[in-house]
Amino acid sequence: MLGPVILAASRSDRMRRLISAAPVTKQVVDRFIPGETVADIVPIIKDLTAKGLELTMDVVGEDITTPEQATAARDAYLELIDHLGRLELGERVEMSVKLSMFGQALPGGHELALANVRPVVEAAAAIGTTVTLDAEDHTTLDSMFAIHEELRKDFPQTGCVIQAYLFRTEADARRLAESGSRVRLVKGAYKEPAEVAYQQKHEIDKAYVRILRTLMEGEGYPMIGSHDPRLIAIAQELAHKAGRKLDEYEFQMLYGIRSDEHLRLAAEGHRMRVYTAYGTDWYGYFMRRLAEKPANLRFFLRSMVSK
Ligand code: FDA
Repeated sequence: MLGPVILAASRSDRMRRLISAAPVTKQVVDRFIPGETVADIVPIIKDLTAKGLELTMDVVGEDITTPEQATAARDAYLELIDHLGRLELGERVEMSVKLSMFGQALPGGHELALANVRPVVEAAAAIGTTVTLDAEDHTTLDSMFAIHEELRKDFPQTGCVIQAYLFRTEADARRLAESGSRVRLVKGAYKEPAEVAYQQKHEIDKAYVRILRTLMEGEGYPMIGSHDPRLIAIAQELAHKAGRKLDEYEFQMLYGIRSDEHLRLAAEGHRMRVYTAYGTDWYGYFMRRLAEKPANLRFFLRSMVSK
């Protein structure tokens, strides 16, 4: 029951100011967002890749309000890619981007977001890696898929995310399960109305399995974005049935969540990519992590009162 309340708070400016200013917040935030600058994050990238993990990097930020912020977001990714180029990790470290951070919600936002994200995709390709477009709330998705299609004309390896909780996603998955595509399937992290999305966990899980089957039986490259042990076991079974080799799909999990499982899957020979977020504008990302698990919220509140 708390999840929807926290998700509503994740869009509130008042709550953003309150929570961001609380002195203890930082310690809890660090578990999910382990740095604010490229200098903070480079040692983490080196450490995780040395352990056999792959990464997808998210410079946190979303729902910006000026074109200058969108340009700053683009530049933050370009700075990161410049550092990654020097580490020579190629596709072991890719980028995840939220188009709302590139100006998608501003006037003329579709064109602005495309203009800002294109140089990031170009720079990633120049160092031998790629970009995946995150999925945000359902009102943004037609624009996200159109940008994805446009970018794929020049950079076919550009990935995108689909969310199992949305009714539209089964059709999106059928369209996207084509040769050369890279698609991350997640349950979905936003507060969505009953007109467009399943509300019950068991319905979302069932949809996840149906969509995963479409991706596994298709021609593309499925990226399984989940920490759910049941879904991970089902994914392995579906991959086996579809005759996929270990390098023909990958698992993805978030930094700070089920870290032992990251290492276990990698040790079994799976491609395991850790979604690693960093930066200063962490509020929205952090609140979605609290909403996913009530225990995170209890821990956060306890640390506030014990100070
Ligand atoms: P579920 O929520 O059922 O969790 C299964 C188990 O995992 C829990 O029982 C718990 O043990 C652990 N767990 C899950 N979340 C936790 C948390 N926050 N803290 C501690 N433990 C937790 N969403 C979206 O809408 N757009 C996107 O682009 C993305 N991108 C994305 C990338 C990657 C790599 C991942 C893994 C996830 C996303 N998501 C996302 C988030 C996704 O939609 C979803 O909210 C979370 O993954 C939680 O769902 P699970 O599938 O993990 O299952």
